[in-house]
Amino acid sequence: MTTPSTSAHIDLTDIDLFVEGRHHEAFSRLRAEEPVYWNKGGDGNNFWALTRYEDVLWAYREHSLFSSARGAILGGSFRSEDDSAGGKMLVASDLPRHRLLKQQIHPAFSTHIVARVRDQVRALVDRAIERALAEGGCDFASEIATELPAGALMVLLGVGHKQAHELIGLTRRMVGFRDETFVDLGSDQRLRLVWLQAEIFEFFVDILEERRRSPQEDFISVLLGAKINGRPLTEEEIFYNCMNLAVGGNETSSYTACSGLQALIEHPDEYDRLLVEPALIGTGIEEMIRWSSTNAYVQRVAQASMVRGSAQISKGDSVTLWNVSANRDDAQFPDADIFDVARTPNRHLSYGAGIHRCIGAPVAQIELSYLFGTLLSRGIRFRSGGAPRKLRSNFILGTTHMPLEVQ
Ligand code: HEM
Repeated sequence: MTTPSTSAHIDLTDIDLFVEGRHHEAFSRLRAEEPVYWNKGGDGNNFWALTRYEDVLWAYREHSLFSSARGAILGGSFRSEDDSAGGKMLVASDLPRHRLLKQQIHPAFSTHIVARVRDQVRALVDRAIERALAEGGCDFASEIATELPAGALMVLLGVGHKQAHELIGLTRRMVGFRDETFVDLGSDQRLRLVWLQAEIFEFFVDILEERRRSPQEDFISVLLGAKINGRPLTEEEIFYNCMNLAVGGNETSSYTACSGLQALIEHPDEYDRLLVEPALIGTGIEEMIRWSSTNAYVQRVAQASMVRGSAQISKGDSVTLWNVSANRDDAQFPDADIFDVARTPNRHLSYGAGIHRCIGAPVAQIELSYLFGTLLSRGIRFRSGGAPRKLRSNFILGTTHMPLEVQ
């Protein structure tokens, strides 16, 4: 069931809206005029869009009213009709299974593992920065930012640098499934996704066998040892959760690094503030994460009919929670459109909230803290060396090319 739409002409499936940066204006209108918005997608997908902070947080918390089983992405991108990830993959499972699975997976993100990620990221980022300094510039997106997930994958999966980048290449194509830089747009979209998923599963086949023979303290060994209600995970469940880890962690942290640095370049006074007051690094990083809102939305499915504001949501409707809009809601963040590295409090929703809140957040925090801490402590300044190129997606807001010159 729907209510008539007054905010005509806004279509949140229009990728150009995001690539051209017009989405902030559209969300500002929606928050003011029609905060629970029935979006008639140009691609045939119709869904509700929650755009106010209060509504987005409410839906995250009401997990029994809003199921994750259809997957976080509109159109069910990371699954096919016959091969549903629902219930198998952490992000696409509901209680009680979600709780049991998360409990089993948590040890793979222990403080000891996060500390190892920091050491690995340090080695890779230091090397990449030295190279950029020696050459007077770099493509920050592909030469520095991708070293963050590479370092994390090397530790979390116990793989080498080359293998980590191979997996980043695969997940980049999956997240960029509508971007001609990464995929052949002439192919059928659903088949393209099924094929990409198969390639990611294939990547893990040999590693899984190795870990079966000799377990380590990595994510796959943790999954192999996991039991839910006394039953070990199936191979398919293990593959799905490996994909969840890779897709969840690879694109988000590197694209957040790009948007964060872009924000500092566009707001040089804020960069100066961080140089003068290094203690602001913590709030500065939170502000970069709020500002970036790299994971623009997540999808849920209504489990009951309900009224929210003037909208009548029906059981089975797709409901989207727009982090990128909630994070710019003036009712929660005074002067939300101002980039303020000292912003406190800053309870952004970039990592989601409630039971599905990002399990990789401590990993992302350590990656971003090391990168920006190093740039600031060494006083390294970049300026734009050409137009950045945006990823064609309304789900992950990213920059695929970001030419920079050292200032
Ligand atoms: C700045 C970086 C990151 C952002 C913005 C981000 C964003 C998010 C968001 C919004 C969710 C909630 C999904 C939902 O409610 O449906 C989530 C969940 C998740 N993220 Fe992240 N993420 C980041 C980094 C990472 C990293 C580094 C990893 C792994 C190494 C990771 C792995 C996951 C996983 C496995 C989930 C599912 C958790 C659950 O369902 O309980 N993420 N992330």
